[in-house]
Amino acid sequence: MLDGSFVAHPGFTVGSVPARLFGSFVEHMGRCVYTGIYEPGHTSADGDGFRGDVLDLVRELGVTSVRYPGGNFASGYRWEDGVGPREGRPQRLDLAWHTLETNQFGLDEFIRWARRADVEPMLAVNLGTRGVAAAVDLLEYSNHPSGTTLSDRRIVHGAADPHDVRIWCLGNEMDGPWQIGHKTAGEYGRLAMETAKAMRRLDPTLELVACGSSHAGMPTFGAWESQVLEEVFDEVDFISLHAYYEPIDGDVASFLASAVGMDRFIASVVATADAVAARRRSPKRLSLSFDEWNVWYARRFDPTVATPDWRPAPRLIEDEYSVLDAVVVGGLLMTLLRRSDRVRAASLAQLVNVIAPIRSEPGGPAWRQTIFHPFAQTAARARGQVLDLRLSVPSQPTRRYGETPLADVVATWDEPGGSLVVFATNRSLDEPMTLAGDLGAFARLEVVDALAVYDDDQNASNTASDPDRVIPRRLEGVELHGSRLHLELPPLSWAAVTLAPSDAPRRDAEPR
Ligand code: AHR
Repeated sequence: MLDGSFVAHPGFTVGSVPARLFGSFVEHMGRCVYTGIYEPGHTSADGDGFRGDVLDLVRELGVTSVRYPGGNFASGYRWEDGVGPREGRPQRLDLAWHTLETNQFGLDEFIRWARRADVEPMLAVNLGTRGVAAAVDLLEYSNHPSGTTLSDRRIVHGAADPHDVRIWCLGNEMDGPWQIGHKTAGEYGRLAMETAKAMRRLDPTLELVACGSSHAGMPTFGAWESQVLEEVFDEVDFISLHAYYEPIDGDVASFLASAVGMDRFIASVVATADAVAARRRSPKRLSLSFDEWNVWYARRFDPTVATPDWRPAPRLIEDEYSVLDAVVVGGLLMTLLRRSDRVRAASLAQLVNVIAPIRSEPGGPAWRQTIFHPFAQTAARARGQVLDLRLSVPSQPTRRYGETPLADVVATWDEPGGSLVVFATNRSLDEPMTLAGDLGAFARLEVVDALAVYDDDQNASNTASDPDRVIPRRLEGVELHGSRLHLELPPLSWAAVTLAPSDAPRRDAEPR
């Protein structure tokens, strides 16, 4: 049995839990849109063709914002193709994913879907094949009330009220040679700056996201952020981060420590952004938008043979997630919470079918993947302030990240709502861990509930025929002795424990 401990104090906080931390991502890729969120003719579809079973799961997941329409797709997209009467919309070759794009789902449908799902839309403009003019046109079409050709066109298309999209990504992964219209940092920085300036002339209150590196392993990582921010620092609110994790060469210990890699990535981008601020003598502290993150078994995917025949909505990267993956995803979300002083937006990539927490079959069922559960539980429970804990746990060496902690703990304290939530993970594959939590600085608490994702079979997954093979289970061995919390974490587990002042009425976590 491994032993660890932590101290929590309500006065020591990192910052508030950002609503946008529980974002996700819908790209025109594979079956995320078509037969994912949109499938006219499906038995659960509404009058707009939105799948009701998927919408129910999106709401249950607790997603707060959704980035759209890509991803690599955004870098070749003409947004005008996706608005207006469906019969007049062009069919296009999507060069990003070698797919036929029918454009039967576009901007106005996405906004309608987002309202129905009760999520905030986050749009990406095309800075690959297009530039300032198309971005400003899209903004005017979306957000201008009326009285111009573009805004009146939106009204004719059925959207009388402006879409009022507040947060915009200035392109996608523009540092990546695979990107349509890939740019050097200098080229992208200038274009992002001019696009941001023009968009702000239309609405200075927009929140704008500049592209950071596609991942921390890019040869230009660091230099890219620095050079881009030298250009665009004053005009943007966020710099983006993307990261996908998978076991490499069977190295499960490093995979389990992915959250450590994510933490270091965040720290490096914060340092780079703050160095740019220092050079400019600026007090501004840029926020981070971790707008693509997940487990992705990317080494199993060969984009060159994915869809040789330009089919619409092919099956692309429909990874089936295991218990191991769910524990990693729960841990990554804990890192995002702990870093939420600077990470103010994040998007689990993607939402449905494509490396997604939700799966659906054409004409068939929709179900929750294993990774759905830690995300949904965290989104439902994390409220108020993220606490700045002191943690002492055993460690182990890993090939990728050196010595890494075998456990992690993050806690949120919602003083008005009266709940303290402790999220914990045990990364040991074979040993349980006891955690002793010192909660002496809080008023008298009681345990409201405790659950965990774990299983004897680390490869267990949810499928169409067995959709609830892996679900959160009650966590046994949770005790509160005075102000000392005692947790027993099974090997390879992710857990959430909710406590409340003992005189407060018990209540379930409410949807955000
Ligand atoms: O989410 C899949 C792809 O991963 C996105 O299109 C791209 O931005 C990233 O490389």
